[in-house]
Order: sequence, then C-alpha cells, then structure tokens
Amino acid sequence: MAPRIVARHLSHPRGHFGRLIGFLMNRHNARMNAFAVKQLSLRPDDHVLEIGFGGGATLPALIAGAKFVVGVDRSADVVGWAKSKYARAIAEGRAEFHEGHVETLPFESASFGKVCTVNTVYFWKSLETGFAEIRRVLVQGGRVAVGFLPKDRMARMNMPADIFTLCAAEDVVAALKTCGFGDIRVEQPQPDTPWNVIIASC
Ligand SMILES: C[S@@+](CC[C@H](N)C(=O)[O-])C[C@H]1O[C@@H](n2cnc3c(N)ncnc32)[C@H](O)[C@@H]1O
Repeated sequence: MAPRIVARHLSHPRGHFGRLIGFLMNRHNARMNAFAVKQLSLRPDDHVLEIGFGGGATLPALIAGAKFVVGVDRSADVVGWAKSKYARAIAEGRAEFHEGHVETLPFESASFGKVCTVNTVYFWKSLETGFAEIRRVLVQGGRVAVGFLPKDRMARMNMPADIFTLCAAEDVVAALKTCGFGDIRVEQPQPDTPWNVIIASC
C-alpha cells in the first residue's frame, strides 16, 4: 500500500511536505492537466473555475488563456501558495483563489462558462453532489472537464480505501447525466493512455 502520509497529502496538501507533494504532482500530472485545459477550448473572454488545483499545474495556461480564473481548493495552504505566486494576476483582477469544497462551492449560480477539475474525484463525498454544484455554478451551455485515473489503473497504486474512492469512467458519465449534463465525451490523447478526461456540457 502507498504510504498513508503521501495519500493524505494528495487528498489535502498541508505544510512543507504538502508543498513538496504539490511540486511532484505538477510534474507527474503535467500531461493530464495540459490535456484537460486543451479540452476546455479556452477563449479570451472565458470565466473559468478550477476545483482542487493543488500544486497549480494548470494555472499558468488558464490565466494566459482566459479572462478571469478562479481557483478553489479545500486546502488553505495551497490557496495561500497560489495567492502568493499569482499576486500580480490577482492585483490585475484576472485571478482569485478561495478555500472551499466542491460539495458547497462558495460562488453564485451561473458564475462560470468553464470548469476544470483534475485528480480530485477520488476525494469527493459523492460524484452527484459535486457535479450538481458544478452544474449550478456553470452558465447554460457551459462546459466541464474532469481528468482522473480510472478505477482499474488507480487500483494498481494501492491507495488507502478510506482516503481514495476509485471511480470508473462509466461512474463519472452516469453521475454527469444524473446532474443534467449532456454531450459527454471520454477523451484520451492515445488509446493506451492510462488516464482520461471527461468533457460535458450543460
Ligand atoms: C491529488 S491533488 C490534484 C491537484 C491537481 N489538480 C493535479 O492534478 O495535479 C487533489 C487536490 O484537490 C483538493 N481537493 C480534494 N478534495 C476536494 C474537495 N472535495 N473540494 C475541493 N478541493 C478538493 C486537494 O486539497 C488537493 O489540492
């Protein structure tokens, strides 16, 4: 089994070790994050929300490609690190970072045109609760991109079951449908890529 301390910091990075984990995640998850951002087809007038940005692998591309980027994460420490790293974008009114949970997003309804979340679904209380909240904060016609390592691949990593809930692509697709999303596609850059990014519209 993967060490519990690593699993705990993947789920909720904190302190110096959490910062190291964030740095390692950025390297390890770079391709999945870049592919998820690509699936958003960003436009210069987009308002984008990223949920669970962790080490911030997507943030440079999101901030460069959209009008306004909001990051929300349940870890107060990663929010603090992003506020410090992106102080200039914040001062220019192009970015904001908030502590919060996917289950109760601290935003008004219909606030964003696009939402991105990568490697977070394993930690949600339920897929339906998370996607219902994402649907609420998206405008009509908005798009969500959800990147993750599916159950069969994640099982090989032996993550502790009380921290990681594994989900198959079919589970995510079913939850998206239940929450009113349509036009759902499961994308991978190559057929043998271990992870996938699911895109859906509302
Ligand atoms: C494994 S890291 C992934 C970070 C980044 N997205 C990546 O792919 O490298 C998971 C991140 O999601 C955050 N997170 C986990 N569950 C969450 C939830 N229910 N609501 C908001 N953030 C959450 C964690 O604090 C952590 O920063």
